[in-house]
Amino acid sequence: MKQAPHEHKCDVLVIGAGAAGLTLALRLASKANIIVLSKAKLKEGSTYYAQGGIAAVFDKDDSIESHVQDTLIAGAGLCDEKTVRFTAEKAKQSLETLISYGVPFDTIPGEDGKQKYHLTREGGHSHRRILHAADATGKAVQKTLIRSAKSHQSIRIFERYNAVDLITAKKLKQAHKQVYGAYVWNRDSEQVEVIKAAKVILATGGASKVYQYTSNPDIASGDGIAMAWRAGCRIANMEFNQFHPTCLFHPDARNFLLTEALRGEGAYLTRPDGSRFMPDFDDRAELAPRDIVARAIDFEMKRLGADCMYLDITHKPKDFIKHHFPTIYKRCKQFGINMSKSPIPVVPAAHYTCGGVMTNLNGQTDIENLYAIGEVAYTGLHGANRMASNSLLECLVFAEAAATNILQSGFDVSKFPTIPAWDESKVSDSDEEVVIQHNWHELRLLMWDYVGIVRTNKRLERALRRIELLQQEVDEYYANFKVSNNLLELRNLLDVAELIVKCAMQRKESRGLHYNLDYPNTAKDAKPSILVPDS
Ligand code: FAD
Ligand code: SIN
Repeated sequence: MKQAPHEHKCDVLVIGAGAAGLTLALRLASKANIIVLSKAKLKEGSTYYAQGGIAAVFDKDDSIESHVQDTLIAGAGLCDEKTVRFTAEKAKQSLETLISYGVPFDTIPGEDGKQKYHLTREGGHSHRRILHAADATGKAVQKTLIRSAKSHQSIRIFERYNAVDLITAKKLKQAHKQVYGAYVWNRDSEQVEVIKAAKVILATGGASKVYQYTSNPDIASGDGIAMAWRAGCRIANMEFNQFHPTCLFHPDARNFLLTEALRGEGAYLTRPDGSRFMPDFDDRAELAPRDIVARAIDFEMKRLGADCMYLDITHKPKDFIKHHFPTIYKRCKQFGINMSKSPIPVVPAAHYTCGGVMTNLNGQTDIENLYAIGEVAYTGLHGANRMASNSLLECLVFAEAAATNILQSGFDVSKFPTIPAWDESKVSDSDEEVVIQHNWHELRLLMWDYVGIVRTNKRLERALRRIELLQQEVDEYYANFKVSNNLLELRNLLDVAELIVKCAMQRKESRGLHYNLDYPNTAKDAKPSILVPDS
């Protein structure tokens, strides 16, 4: 028997409550009736955990051209220059909007005695360009955005709601490409509900949870990328998953990142014997772009059979360390590491999804009224390797661009087709949850082992065969059993894993974050890997 769906209606449905989703919602708050979904607790997303900061040209000796050139270099020849310029040019204005909401970025006294923003430095940046709130920038940003969003009646926040799939014309067997809303799973009532919307925004963040070791929170299961792919959007550059070079290596320190700003402020990377190794790999040493640093660490760990390398800032005064990195200092202390006296053990971990749902400069996807902004999107900004602190910036700039486009194009929810109810008539309660648990672990481990920092053709083929098998099992499970959070995420992660491997197989070269021992050279022409769904 078909159940009557709980149905909601709004002008704009924003799937995701991180920097991208909330910035867009705030920008539209005075003009639209908005629903924002957050799949877990409202703060829970990569935004909250961001440490280093947000890049923008605030220093008089810096320039937009320099920000553009640094981004292009870090992107290893694969960035879309138009997108890079667009983003760098709009950076300061986007930051000023964020500041106007009340984000407390660190300041220092300027030469004229007035306070100015303290700018830190990270890999790939040739200038001090990163605004930050000590070493917990994301927490300050997320808390401020949540507070602002909650002050608007026009923004309704649905916490613990998982978007399951987009409702598109294709789903309704119509020929054109248009979105009408989404099926969403209420985690508390355990019912699937319908949200109709004139515009739908994917702001679901990245997919780094597809790897065994990641700096990302649990929500980063690539849901938006998988939903967009199933709905008929092109996806690009998924092979470029960024591994952050320095996550804390400790059995109890799940996901804890050690910001690149540590290296920006002078920390060295060392072998277990205390010797530095980055100068042997790149002239920029510890401040080389992330792909180079992560690969160097991986290389040294494998060469020496070491469990980790070390990050050493003991040569800096204790007060300086505690002032700039209070969160990290405290966290390391909890694990028995006094970072002002001893080097910190580090390993690389999956950190950022450079590819995603293809969009234009307005955040529009291939489907009418569907937008993608933030880490879920592929705008062309990051190319083959994202430069540090350009990600939160992309969230802000593209939220603003999408909001402007939405206001120009308007929204009309009066002419909606009838949306079929979610059909649970053929499913029952899961009887073998172990299948889901097992497949979760298997997928994340195989991605780490076969599709990690260094790849080969054979490893990619092996990975694809296993992913396809897991997909068969999970599809069968999905058809027969009621949805659960683990099942929904696993289904999405398998789609994302397939997209990563297929993009990696398309690329017959090594570039930026994608390193394949069978094609060690970089091709002369740089092209994105674009996957087109079956129509
Ligand atoms: P997120 O902030 O991840 O938010 C995603 C939202 O989508 C969440 O609300 C989640 O609940 C929701 N969601 C996901 N799936 C669903 C679904 N199916 N249904 C409903 N809701 C859903 N970048 C920088 O520029 N500077 C930094 O200093 C920096 N430091 C970082 C440190 C760490 C530890 C990490 C993990 C990342 C860091 N990054 C940094 C990257 C940056 O934080 C992220 O790229 C950025 O925050 C992504 O923002 P977002 O809004 O796209 O997604
Ligand atoms: C960090 O602080 O090292 C993370 C910065 C980023 O991912 O941009």
